[in-house]
Amino acid sequence: MRQKKIVIGNWKMNPLSLKDAEKLFIGLTRRISRIKKTEIVVCPPYLYLERLKKFSRKIVLGAQDAFWEDAGAFTGEVSGEMLYNLGVRYVILGHSERRELGETDGFVNKKIKSALKAGLVPILCVGEKERDANHEYFSVIKSQVERCLKGVSKNLISKIVIAYEPVWAISSTANRHDATSADSREMAIFIRKTLSDASSPEIAAETRIIYGGSVNMKSAKDFLENGGIDGLLPGRASLDAEEFTEIVKICEALKN
Ligand code: 13P
Repeated sequence: MRQKKIVIGNWKMNPLSLKDAEKLFIGLTRRISRIKKTEIVVCPPYLYLERLKKFSRKIVLGAQDAFWEDAGAFTGEVSGEMLYNLGVRYVILGHSERRELGETDGFVNKKIKSALKAGLVPILCVGEKERDANHEYFSVIKSQVERCLKGVSKNLISKIVIAYEPVWAISSTANRHDATSADSREMAIFIRKTLSDASSPEIAAETRIIYGGSVNMKSAKDFLENGGIDGLLPGRASLDAEEFTEIVKICEALKN
């Protein structure tokens, strides 16, 4: 069965105060009250989660990471179970900004398994740093997907959201350039084929694949209509309630 389309806002390490986080979240809550078909997820920094969950039932909360152990002597870490107990339902794993700090596919693999065990929906981020003339970037994505999903039971794969985020298109990347909906479409097909080989065509067809990388209200329609995807993962645009709402509305207005 086809799952709902999804728009996920990754706030990254923003905003600077709880007051500003509340303002942004409440502004969003007011604007999206008529949205019915689209699943909306917001991933703020950990320390705002507890406070923000009081303001909306429609917006589902996600975290930006979760450790693979449930509890114990792991200074500075937060577990999936803790997040679930707080009311969080999604978790971004393997974001390129974390990979840049040393996160490996092996870590992401452990985190995916423990997040699923805790009842969280992992949002697995994959993406190449650059596009080379020999199309090596396909093998980069294939190995990220395969290594991160290694040993994950087949019947859980369709619970995972796969986010294709080419690093060269992310707003904070130096000398970035825009990805097109054709880039997204090509990679979404390739990821689905990789998933199909790792599980089954049915499971691959059910799994949501989304795109992220400088999505804004001008580019969202083209990505959603022509990018072969089931949703979007905006970063910078999710820090503006009006812009994020426009993206959600564009998703809501899609025919199928
Ligand atoms: P931007 O939309 O700011 O490029 O961020 C994309 C991203 O990294 C979301 O996880």
